[in-house]
Amino acid sequence: MAGLIPQGFIEDLVARVPVSDVIGSRIQLKKSGGTFKACCPFHQEKTPSFHVNAQKNFYHCFGCGASGNSINFLRDYENLSFNEAVEELAKVAGVEVPKDEKNQQVYSAQKVLWDALEYAGLRYRNALKSHEKHSVAKSYLKKRDLSPEVIERYGIGFAPAERDFLSSNAPADTLKALIKTKTVSDKYERLFDLFQNRLMFPIRNARGKTIAFGGRTLGDDKAKYINSPESEVFHKSNEIYGLYEANQVNRQLERLLVVEGYMDVVSLAQFGITYAVATLGTATNTESLTQLLKRCQNLVFCFDGDNAGIQAAKKAMENALPLFQDGMQLSFLLLPQGEDPDTLVRDEGAAAFEQRIAAAQPLSEFLFQIYSDGLDLNVAEHKGVLKQRAEEQIEQVKSLVLKNALRQKLNSITFRRSGKERKDAEPKRDLVSNKVLRDPDGGLCLALYYSPARAAEFQSILAGVKNFPRASEFACFLTEAGLSSTDELLYFLATDSTGQREHFSGLFDRLDWVPGAEEMHVEAEEVLQKILKDKKQANALKSTKVNRRPSEMTAEEKQALRSISIINPKSVK
Ligand code: UTP
Ligand code: MN
Repeated sequence: MAGLIPQGFIEDLVARVPVSDVIGSRIQLKKSGGTFKACCPFHQEKTPSFHVNAQKNFYHCFGCGASGNSINFLRDYENLSFNEAVEELAKVAGVEVPKDEKNQQVYSAQKVLWDALEYAGLRYRNALKSHEKHSVAKSYLKKRDLSPEVIERYGIGFAPAERDFLSSNAPADTLKALIKTKTVSDKYERLFDLFQNRLMFPIRNARGKTIAFGGRTLGDDKAKYINSPESEVFHKSNEIYGLYEANQVNRQLERLLVVEGYMDVVSLAQFGITYAVATLGTATNTESLTQLLKRCQNLVFCFDGDNAGIQAAKKAMENALPLFQDGMQLSFLLLPQGEDPDTLVRDEGAAAFEQRIAAAQPLSEFLFQIYSDGLDLNVAEHKGVLKQRAEEQIEQVKSLVLKNALRQKLNSITFRRSGKERKDAEPKRDLVSNKVLRDPDGGLCLALYYSPARAAEFQSILAGVKNFPRASEFACFLTEAGLSSTDELLYFLATDSTGQREHFSGLFDRLDWVPGAEEMHVEAEEVLQKILKDKKQANALKSTKVNRRPSEMTAEEKQALRSISIINPKSVK
């Protein structure tokens, strides 16, 4: 049986969703000073006496006396049960209602920690406003030129230079929770605040709960930043600094700019670039990338232009390759040496910085730039090095569309002729029998990839033909699975759990060069026609010269057999 929904969860939920949103999406509200007014939905009236107080998160009708919070409203207006009203509200807030016993226990345990961290955050914010030594922090913020609005929006605070600022005043339960989150340490004889003489950045989860802090020294501590250690409510790799704040300002996050530091996020926000976030590890690892991609499919990674920045960007790219799916957009922005987003946006302004964002390099370009680093692609050996560096990474890509595009690009770079060679290059439409496409089997696979609907036709042409094993198998798979378009095929492979993706991932591997769909159809047509012609000839030969071994054949007959080598080259030696 489902347990009771924890009271704390309900209180949070009601507090988090403005009652004016809940009511305003159902009846027309008119703003009137600090409150909203409407004709009461619960009794007949001509002049509005129904008031919604956004600040108190409460409604009241002076005509009929109806009053309450969002849950009361939903129950009365929509005739919902209490639990249904909670569910409805949770849907608006985008959260899950903790229902089973275990979830509730976890929720309750976490709530104690969230509350304690919220308490600490409040103390830090208050200290910034009114602590007797707050001028240290105030003048630092002035020096960094942070506006009161972003200080407020990001909940920035001040941890004074006292070892027991938090612990000396916290209620006993709160103190216990602060020790649990290691905001206060009990490793020494006396309790000891983790953050002292620091500017405090609360780290909030996607729901706005404070789950940890980052603190920047206001003095000359060796550790410029200290971050809360991992705890029951804080798993570094799963959290993204600034995401909650970005969501508060942007209804829809069209893209996320991923930067390295707290200060960068906050400064960019001050300049109107409100979609910057920071991952909380040094590198952008698989877990944090997964979290980012869950929130937004368009990510721009921004790194310093120094060597460390380039290495970090490379790491992020390599971690992103296996996660890439169709529909995603990943790009990379390297800043000039010695600059970070904070210094640069202050120096050149928001418009110039946004131009940089717009001009960020897409993954498909950045990859080749990174792997071409230090190489001269006019030198044949260097092309080989690039191929070796990039090939292995490209194979990690699961999206067939991106993988093929990258392979194609790699091939076009590594096979690009230098100026002189290009001048006397052969005409482009140079077919299977020539050098462009040395792997007709792979070529037919590619044609099938572009036009899965032709699988049955391919199957019948390839019947009895020995040296197209991959195309035969692929065509058979396509007809059996009933896939008739590339999209269907991609969808099938993306959702398949039976290993088909791995099985078919090597289909086009041997192609030197990957032609586009139209070109491929011309190529495939030639291959198919040749197969049909050869089959006919072979049949004719077989029926006229029954059971004759090659040694008994005339030179002409041997020549004829050789010319149909496309069917089975090893049969004629
Ligand atoms: P930076 O050293 O680039 O600092 O560290 P910053 O963001 O430019 O900060 P300001 O401008 O000097 O104030 C980038 C990020 O690396 C982490 C922090 O998350 C920081 O925001 N970091 C840095 C630490 O965790 N510890 C450190 O000692 C330094
Ligand atoms: Mn900085």
